[in-house]
Amino acid sequence: MEGIVRFGVSMESKLLKQFDELIEKKNYNNRSEAIRDLIRDFIVENQWEAEDVETIGTITYVFNHEVREINDKLTDMQHKHYKNIISTMHVHLDEHNCIEVMIVKGKAKEIVKIADEIISTRGVKHGKLVMTTTGKNL
Ligand code: NI
Repeated sequence: MEGIVRFGVSMESKLLKQFDELIEKKNYNNRSEAIRDLIRDFIVENQWEAEDVETIGTITYVFNHEVREINDKLTDMQHKHYKNIISTMHVHLDEHNCIEVMIVKGKAKEIVKIADEIISTRGVKHGKLVMTTTGKNL
């Protein structure tokens, strides 16, 4: 592997034991892969705190489509933010409930604003923003 650096980490044996148990549970093959993922997650979180870095998020939300004007409101919002919203998937869960998963790109602060707008809409029962990354520089 190109540019791979090995480094030693010191920690209490109790902490390492807990880590090893957890990475086994999480299906990691070895400590290195688990540590790489932790570091990537740390970097991604920091990019979100930076607010001005171009990034990616997914907004997942469940709503009752029978609530008055909710479809119009959600559609208006998607048109308003068409530059940020790359794709939306809609699934009818039962006679009343729908789930939508939206992929949003842009600056972290723009994505958070869109998620807040959607999740706070009347009729949206539950919503979550998952922050990820464009994958560049990782
Ligand atoms: Ni539906």
